Amino acid sequence: MTLVAPSILAADFGHLARDVQAVEAAGADWLHIDVMDGHFVPNLTLGPPVVAALRGRTRLLLDVHLMVERPETLIPDFQRAGADLVTVHAEVCPHLHRVLQTIRGLGMRAGVSFNPATPLAGLEYVLDQVDLVLVMSVNPGFGGQEFIPSSLDKLRQARALLDRAGCGAFLQVDGGVNLETARACLEAGADVLVAGSFVFGSADPAAAVAALKNLQARQAEPGSPRRA
Ligand code: DX5
Ligand code: ZN
Repeated sequence: MTLVAPSILAADFGHLARDVQAVEAAGADWLHIDVMDGHFVPNLTLGPPVVAALRGRTRLLLDVHLMVERPETLIPDFQRAGADLVTVHAEVCPHLHRVLQTIRGLGMRAGVSFNPATPLAGLEYVLDQVDLVLVMSVNPGFGGQEFIPSSLDKLRQARALLDRAGCGAFLQVDGGVNLETARACLEAGADVLVAGSFVFGSADPAAAVAALKNLQARQAEPGSPRRA
């Protein structure tokens, strides 16, 4: 099944609850929340208070994408705010295994993200601590960028690695996702589509969510643990 996670980065921050409730009613599965610190990425967005406010307004799974340096210092705050899943970037985690353990230890699901220029090196050693692998298909920092085609190759590599290890982690793709790129990503093995401008930049966000949800998910492959 394809999961759709609209990214609120492209929503109207002045009417955030309204926009979130619209995509929830349209059948979105998760809510993707982009946290940027102005250091790891050249942009600033939001923090735990906004997550807490959203927690009070939606039942969607809150999928927090931390584009910050030293994410370990913020993880407890996001847990208290009501995050369900926290994803950190491999590039800023010399002790990635420990950070993932910390996230899970606080009762949340743990994700690891890879920038377009970052190889998946090391992923195999943390698979037992990982609930989600995020392949960035743009350089993080901004919405509305163009999908980087080499991400498809990385998705295929990640899918092969997960399947070989019998790991049931989600494989998420984020950046430049529209109907066309989403189709290619599903082909390549992704199962969670993050979409910001395609959803909230559209005249009808509910229809955009429905269109993404209707895309045919990748056919089960023999031996694929999550689809058996
Ligand atoms: C980029 C963020 C994305 C962003 C995607 O740094 O991680 O989640 O919101 O936006 P679109 O879908 O517009 O590329
Ligand atoms: Zn994101």
